[in-house]
Amino acid sequence: MKKQVLAIALASIVVAGSAQTAENPIAARKAMMQNVVAATKMGGAMLKGSMDYNAATAQLILRVMNTASLGAAEHFPEGSETGGETTASPKIWQDMAGFTMAMAKFQTDTAAGIVKKPEDMASFDKAAFGAAFAKVTANCKSCHESYRVKKN
Ligand code: HEC
Repeated sequence: MKKQVLAIALASIVVAGSAQTAENPIAARKAMMQNVVAATKMGGAMLKGSMDYNAATAQLILRVMNTASLGAAEHFPEGSETGGETTASPKIWQDMAGFTMAMAKFQTDTAAGIVKKPEDMASFDKAAFGAAFAKVTANCKSCHESYRVKKN
């Protein structure tokens, strides 16, 4: 059962990587968000106990999310407001400064949970991950409410 959850989460990461190119920012940012949601599901499963807690996996979950917070401007260039079944709100381009700040907050909150020194890994227990995860996942809802048309 636990192996199955992991396999499903990993399968969705692989699928997300299949169809994006630099010339297609909409597909790229959707794939990026698909990786984020796969990581979120894995993290949730570890915190609920349907998957065993593992500090290294928890760290990689935060790093996947942190990576997705980088290069927001490249993923949301002028001209990518419509098409490709995007659910990005026009507000992103009306308020790029605010959107960039929301991405920067996501970056800061994910980075805060990342262990910089290998010797600190041992203290990154389930409680520490739970606290970091709660802060990080609050960003999903707040950004989507402001900058996404379809609510999650
Ligand atoms: C700073 C803003 C921001 C943050 C933070 C953010 N998202 Fe998103 N997300 C977006 C935008 C904008 C879209 C719409 C992209 C598009 O369709 O072009 C999106 C789309 C998505 C999608 C749909 C992807 C698709 O295939 O259409 C999922 C799933 C998703 N986000 C999950 C998450 C989760 C889970 C988190 C938190 C861990 C998160 N997002 C954090 C802005 C954000």
